Amino acid sequence: MTELLTGATGTTPGARIDADWWRQATVYQIYPRSFADANGDGIGDLPGITSRVDYLARLGVDAVWLSPFYPSELADGGYDVADHRNVDPRLGTLADFDAMVAALHAAGIKLIVDIVPNHSSDQHEWFKEALAAPKGSLERDRYVFRDGLGPHGELPPADWKCMFGGPAWDPVGDGQWYLHLFAPEQPDFNWHNEEVRADFLKTLRFWSDRGVDGFRVDVAHALAKDLPDDLPSEAQLQAMDRATGTHLLWDRDEVHEIYAGWREVFNEYDPPRIAVAEAWVDPPARRARYASAEGLGQAFNFDLLEADFDADAYRKIIVENLEQAAASGSSTTWVFSNHDVVRHATRYGLPPNGDRPRHYNRAWLLSGGADPVVDAEAGLRRARAATLLMLALPGSAYLYQGEELGLGEVADIPDAARQDPTFFRSPGVDVGRDGCRVPIPWRATGESYGFGPAKAHLPQPEWFGEVSVEAQSDDPGSTLNLYRDALALRRELQTDESLTWVESEPQVLHLRRANGWEAVANFGAAPVPLPAGEVLLASGPVDGELPGETTVWLRN
Ligand code: NOJ
Repeated sequence: MTELLTGATGTTPGARIDADWWRQATVYQIYPRSFADANGDGIGDLPGITSRVDYLARLGVDAVWLSPFYPSELADGGYDVADHRNVDPRLGTLADFDAMVAALHAAGIKLIVDIVPNHSSDQHEWFKEALAAPKGSLERDRYVFRDGLGPHGELPPADWKCMFGGPAWDPVGDGQWYLHLFAPEQPDFNWHNEEVRADFLKTLRFWSDRGVDGFRVDVAHALAKDLPDDLPSEAQLQAMDRATGTHLLWDRDEVHEIYAGWREVFNEYDPPRIAVAEAWVDPPARRARYASAEGLGQAFNFDLLEADFDADAYRKIIVENLEQAAASGSSTTWVFSNHDVVRHATRYGLPPNGDRPRHYNRAWLLSGGADPVVDAEAGLRRARAATLLMLALPGSAYLYQGEELGLGEVADIPDAARQDPTFFRSPGVDVGRDGCRVPIPWRATGESYGFGPAKAHLPQPEWFGEVSVEAQSDDPGSTLNLYRDALALRRELQTDESLTWVESEPQVLHLRRANGWEAVANFGAAPVPLPAGEVLLASGPVDGELPGETTVWLRN
């Protein structure tokens, strides 16, 4: 048995240091338009969330991460924010927000809100002002405008592609073009502009003053940009080194000056507000600055989300991420599912295709979920085993609404019902992310399976009833009760951030936490002998031996 890490402090058994609450928290992501619809307009809302706080408390989560709930035309599921300091009227009011915070806090649940600083919506007042103002104006300087090429500026300043397919520069009719790394309705802010910087500090204080405990920072690695007068081509951009902090668009070192300023704001509060960066950076060691105590404090790693169900792959990821977290002074983060990827119960029911990104299964989605055929039983078995292993790891666990039901991806959404910009901007190539955003089923029957009194904004399949909260709640073997049991035990057993590996067969991962809490995951198909210890919980039936694709928690 080898001591891998004696991590930072974080928690001591039974007693939490409040300022460190986030280090090993279980955080539940709510995609608000698809969680619970209180007013019956087909779109989930804040009163809907408030009405489900009891459910969240029984589930046993420490915090909620709320995806954008701000006014938005929904060009990108709410990540096109028209006003960063308000609530979308379809989702409620600021008073509803306050009521939701109060209810969560009364249940001992913290709240992290999504903050989207790279871009706004094209419906944001500032962007409207920029369009109305002339070239070279202060209003345009808040965004990234450039003159077009050609005699009248009729050609884009560069051939760059945006993340959702199609061009990244759009004309505004007077020879100028604006940059949008995402949808055209999401113009990029100019973070060299002092007003932009000051406005976001105001936004951080606005929500912190309302009792928000932290922030999930969208595309945290894109804010600082350095565009020369002579723009490179898309090919040149792609060829640029991303590992040195000098790429023109992504993960520039200067971005950390911005977050140092945010940290000062976070530290004005007691306990300090926390933040977690969505930063897709490479090499992974570059996450450290985002995760440092002088910066945002924590950063997502998406390595498990991209991994095949494989013992070697998992072990490597766990070792590397614990080392990285220790080096940055932060704790690590574990994620299998979120609103951008195919749900993991489905991913693990598909053969590994070697195709990247692994979490997205582009060809399978394009086939409407028909080819290859999903082995739903195996997918769920593996997802349960994987999740139980993950919940025993040191660090924060980020869960996505519906995964506690073992929910699979909805792959057969008709084209006419699709909402994701990826679908519209890359016809025939990508169907987008709607399949993991279908409103979750609360009841076994009813027009929207208890999501709300009316039809849901994305069509729910017939099989939703069988996997609903109602169908699972009283079934001791259900995935919902596995999560409930696991989260309750995780809270009770939580200990310092160290982990030791116990010698095991190659297809098995056996880890031990400081207080004798152990997890043993058998990634193989054949059963293996069950190691000694009191069985606390298992992802499937365990009787004398540990069956294939099953994880067990033991106490020794
Ligand atoms: C990352 C978010 O997770 C995704 O949903 C969104 O489309 C992009 N950022 C752009 O905001």
